Amino acid sequence: MTPRKIIIDTDPGQDDAVAILLALASPELDVLGLTAVAGNVPLDLTVLNSLKICALAGRADTPVFAGCDRPLRHDLVTAEHVHGSTGLDGADLPAPAATAQDQHAVDFIIDTLRSQDAGTVTLCPLGPLTNIGAALQKAPDIADRIAEIVLMGGAYFEVGNITPAAEFNIFVDPEAADIVFKSGCKITVMPLDVTHKALTSRAWIDGLRAIDTPVTNAVAGLTDFFERFDVAKYGGTGAPLHDPCVIAYLIQPDLFSGRHVNVEIETASELTRGMTVADWWGVTDRPKTAMFMGDVDRDGYFDLLTERLRTL
Ligand code: RIB
Ligand code: CA
Repeated sequence: MTPRKIIIDTDPGQDDAVAILLALASPELDVLGLTAVAGNVPLDLTVLNSLKICALAGRADTPVFAGCDRPLRHDLVTAEHVHGSTGLDGADLPAPAATAQDQHAVDFIIDTLRSQDAGTVTLCPLGPLTNIGAALQKAPDIADRIAEIVLMGGAYFEVGNITPAAEFNIFVDPEAADIVFKSGCKITVMPLDVTHKALTSRAWIDGLRAIDTPVTNAVAGLTDFFERFDVAKYGGTGAPLHDPCVIAYLIQPDLFSGRHVNVEIETASELTRGMTVADWWGVTDRPKTAMFMGDVDRDGYFDLLTERLRTL
């Protein structure tokens, strides 16, 4: 089977790191490149972290592109309180030998979509949608050439994690998200409604340490660090592995279930900035614009992660 061509747009971030490792470990996927965006931490760190993760996977050949260093309209909001000052606290990854490509990430996205056969490249945003929104603004012709956008972001029944109304990725750049959700592209969304069901467990993390490879030990350390914030905030145990849901969906879509609904982005109100207003019950005649996921086979998800991470 021909591997599916993807571009991962990312703001690493511990959960981004696990998503990137899962993608690089999966023969079903052909990672054309990583495009870094400012989000969890500033752009210089998301670029550095992207390079570190590719090196950890033994895939330093994966091209990394630096993208937008701030949202389209608002000032940048970062999340060091969740991810630590480096963005990858919990694992001490060596400085990478590779460097970022000279081309801007937005131009890489545009050029790749124009040069590859239409409908063959999937975009996988794992952070604020600034790079994707900027690419669609600069080159509206690419919208018809995108096979699918499978993104982590938003929330509806689960409500917000950075404000009472909004999830972080959409909150940081609601204008970019509005461009994406109005693009007419095929969109699949992994919101907090589903990622908050993809919680790590002590047994899973201990299982990674028992495999005892540089990758599984690094993921154990990253998720140990990452979970402390959510456990303190929500109680219970385990960290939501948000971003790997995007990649797992590409590999094993039947792990997930949801509903095709209209999703609109709040851009006008400061109170509800970045809210993803999902018409879950079909109370309007707005066009259905996204597959909004709500459930995951948690055990199957973590089995897939373990199975693939152990191969790196
Ligand atoms: O709200 C969770 C999302 O914000 C994840 O993508 C995490 O990495 C951060 O970017
Ligand atoms: Ca992310």
